[in-house]
Amino acid sequence: MHLENTQQQTNTMPRIGDNAPDFEALTTKGQIKLSEFAQDKWIVMFSHPADFTPVCTTEMSGFANKKAEFEALNTELLGLSIDSIHAHLGWVQNVRETTGVYFDFPIIADLDMKVSKLYGMLQPNESETAAVRAVFFIDPKKKIRLIMYYPLNVGRNMDEILRALEALQTSDKHGVAMPLNWKKGDKVICPPPKSLEALNSRLADDTLEKTTWYLAKKDI
Ligand code: BEZ
Repeated sequence: MHLENTQQQTNTMPRIGDNAPDFEALTTKGQIKLSEFAQDKWIVMFSHPADFTPVCTTEMSGFANKKAEFEALNTELLGLSIDSIHAHLGWVQNVRETTGVYFDFPIIADLDMKVSKLYGMLQPNESETAAVRAVFFIDPKKKIRLIMYYPLNVGRNMDEILRALEALQTSDKHGVAMPLNWKKGDKVICPPPKSLEALNSRLADDTLEKTTWYLAKKDI
């Protein structure tokens, strides 16, 4: 069989619903072990291709500028790239000096690519040496709940990252699902009925916004 793409035998790809693979790593805030990091909190773990590059600088500044919003959502930030700790420190300091923005969250120095490979961040047909722009949403039970992968040449959308995090948390809290373009304050989707009794009670409920029996929204 002819395979056009480079095989990724050493590059696992975690999936939604998996337990987040554990690892130990050196970061700009010291050594961490994922299973002991940010107990009882959500974690947004994200990779960037390289320090001292323009798109990455805008993205990391975006995370830094929104740190308080992530904290308000009980969430810790955790960055990563295949760079040394010295490169990370130099870049953090350079951005602080030039723009005043301080990357005040741990950034993993993944020079041996251990974590990048464990999380499928190294996608060799995009780059054999730089991580793609991945975002892993990890819940307080250390389960992976949402994954984003972006290529090297397109920066992510910080509003969407925050929106998706809030949607996951709201879904968990209220046992509901989130419709297209949902944002905080919008109606949410009630799970479809699973019995005739539930169907009849839904049809009789005038508080719901009903499109049809299986698509009903409510305020929370
Ligand atoms: C950037 O962040 O600008 C970038 C990094 C790696 C490859 C291409 C762009």
